[in-house]
Amino acid sequence: MSENQKKIWITGASSGIGKAVAEKFAREGWKVAISARRKEILDKIAENQNISSFPLDVTNEQDCKNVFEKIIQNFKNIDVCFFCSGTYDPKKEKEMNIEQNKFVMNVNYFGTLNCVKVVEKYFKEKKGGHISIVSSIAGYRGLPNSSGYGPSKAALTNFAESIYFDFKKFNVRVSVVSPGFIKTPLTDKNEFNMPFLRSPEFAAEKIYKGFIKSNAFEIHFPKQLTLLLKFFRILPYKIYLFLIDKGVKR
Ligand SMILES: NC(=O)c1ccc[n+]([C@@H]2O[C@H](COP(=O)([O-])OP(=O)(O)OC[C@H]3O[C@@H](n4cnc5c(N)ncnc54)[C@H](OP(=O)(O)O)[C@@H]3O)[C@@H](O)[C@H]2O)c1
Repeated sequence: MSENQKKIWITGASSGIGKAVAEKFAREGWKVAISARRKEILDKIAENQNISSFPLDVTNEQDCKNVFEKIIQNFKNIDVCFFCSGTYDPKKEKEMNIEQNKFVMNVNYFGTLNCVKVVEKYFKEKKGGHISIVSSIAGYRGLPNSSGYGPSKAALTNFAESIYFDFKKFNVRVSVVSPGFIKTPLTDKNEFNMPFLRSPEFAAEKIYKGFIKSNAFEIHFPKQLTLLLKFFRILPYKIYLFLIDKGVKR
């Protein structure tokens, strides 16, 4: 490992967007630490010489602490953290289910917070680096059949906005990634036609470019969908609720 080689820690890297981003950064010559719960899959991805496997359940605070310590021991330093772990089960969100809502909130929101918390001191002392949080367009405004996932992502975006100011004082970049529909095991559960569906590799290219070539707070794609939904975000409730009610098949 060369002194100058850039290093990234990616959670949710056993499949979908996280895996594609890990492979993209590895191809670009970065040293990549990958985490998720399924160790065998991570170990297989880590056959790539630039990728190392650090299995982790993000809902376990102590686990997050231990894993980050191991990564630092191994890599010596980290430049970017990309927190991408997440869960979604549309069938379980058709009706309100408190247990499921708590489960989704625990993985998507508190799991990500656990990861941010364990890197906070490191980045603030280093006075540099980048923490990126994967949220979703589903967090922009309330959508049908999304009483657990949508709120967990709305909370994540708001959290990222909130910590942006604090970390900025320490010269640490905070960004949020808002993907539209990307074909992964997570969206394979959807039973509706997903507009502007893109591949995980497409997402990885956009994320890499957003990290390296811009300093933007939000990285969102594909623009055909995200710009439309951004417009929907500023509509008055009366119009927004009418359009979604008419336009979304349930
Ligand atoms: N696909 C889309 O259209 C889309 C759109 C907007 C946002 N997103 C977000 O993008 C992120 C990645 O999703 P994806 O679509 O790539 O889905 P995915 O292929 O199902 O990936 C989810 C990842 O999260 C990991 N994970 C789940 N629970 C975990 C836990 N408790 N601890 C550690 N890791 C955990 C999974 O690994 P293990 O099962 O091995 O733990 C997996 O690597 C998620 O945050 C998702 O909400 C996706």
